[in-house]
Amino acid sequence: MAVDTVRLLQTLSDAFGVTGFEDEVREALRALVEPYADEIRTDVLGNLLVTRRGGSGFTVMLDAHLDEIGLIINHVDEKGFLHFATLGGWDTRILPAEAVTVRTREGGKVRGVIGSLPPHILKSEERDKPIPVDSLFIDVGASSAEHAAGLGIRVGDPVVPGHPFEVVREGWLLGKAFDDRAGCAVLVKVLEELAGTTPEATLVMNFAVSEETGLRGARTAAFQIDPQVALAVEATVAADLPGVAPPRQPTGVGKGAAITIADAPSIVSQRMVRALETLAQRHEIRHQLKVPFFGGGTDAGAIQTSRAGVLAGIVSIPVRYIHSPVSLMWLDDFDQVVRLVTAFAREAKTLFTP
Ligand code: CO
Repeated sequence: MAVDTVRLLQTLSDAFGVTGFEDEVREALRALVEPYADEIRTDVLGNLLVTRRGGSGFTVMLDAHLDEIGLIINHVDEKGFLHFATLGGWDTRILPAEAVTVRTREGGKVRGVIGSLPPHILKSEERDKPIPVDSLFIDVGASSAEHAAGLGIRVGDPVVPGHPFEVVREGWLLGKAFDDRAGCAVLVKVLEELAGTTPEATLVMNFAVSEETGLRGARTAAFQIDPQVALAVEATVAADLPGVAPPRQPTGVGKGAAITIADAPSIVSQRMVRALETLAQRHEIRHQLKVPFFGGGTDAGAIQTSRAGVLAGIVSIPVRYIHSPVSLMWLDDFDQVVRLVTAFAREAKTLFTP
C-alpha cells in the first residue's frame, strides 16, 4: 500500500526530535519502514539502521538525519520562566515570539511561547537591537518554579520552536523540520519504490542522530555499515530570494534535485558528481548543481572520512527558510529527489563497479 506523500511529510515534520532527543521520530520511522525492511536495528547512539538485502555483497549506504535543531532548558526561575541554550545552528534573532513545545522527561508536551516585549513598552534604543539569547525566556504560563516542576518541566528538557505542518496550496508545504525529515521521507519512498524487487546492491539506510551537532550519528553508522558508496539525502538552503546575489544562493526552489559539488566538510569526488548527473540526465530528472557553499555541511562529510574513505555524494531538496521555525518546500522538488535516489539505489553497483 503506497504511503501518501503529503501525510508522510506531515507525520515526520511534526514528530518531535530535537538533536540528541530523537526517540519519538525514530519510532515513527520504524513503523513506516517496517513493511519494507529485511532487518531493522537501533545502535548505541540511537541511529536507526534499516537493511534491504540485495543480490550481491556490494553495499550502498543511504543516510538522512532524524534530528532537528532546538533548545534546551538550562534554568527555571522563581517566577516560572524557562531559560535556555540553543542546540544546533540557530539565528537567535528570529526566536522571540515563537510558539514552542517543551518535552518533559515523562514524554509530556507543554506548549509555550518565547517571550518578547510589546512595542508599547520598548525604549527607542531597544527597538533596533537583537536580543541576546541569554535574555530570552520561555513562558508556559507557570507562576513559580514549583508550578513549572508540577507541569513536569526540568532543567535539561528539550524544546522545539515551530509551526505545525500545513499545505499552503496544492504541492506547497510548510513545516518545522523538513531539514531533514524530508530526507527521511525520501528514504521511505525509495523503500516503497523497491518493494517486491531484489536490488543489485544491499541497501543500508541510516536514519542518523545528532547531525546538527557535529555529524555524530553518521560517523559511527558509516563505520558499522562499511559501504562501498554512500549518499546523504538532505534538505538544503534554497535562497532564491529578493536581495540575495546568485553566488549566495546555494539552490533554488523549482530547479529539482540539488547535487552537491563542495560544502564545508566535503569536496565530493568528481566521479560521484558525474555519476549523479548522468543518472539524472538518463532518467530525465530535473536537477541543479548546488553552488559551492561553505557555511554548512552534511553527514556525507563524516561518511566520506570513515575507515579508509568512502565515495560519498549528497543529493538535496531545495527548501526555503531551513533552520527557522517554519520552512517552505515544493512537493515537485521532493519528487525529483525521490526519483534520483531511487535510481542511485538501483544502479549504484553498476555505476561504481569498474
Ligand atoms: Co540537515
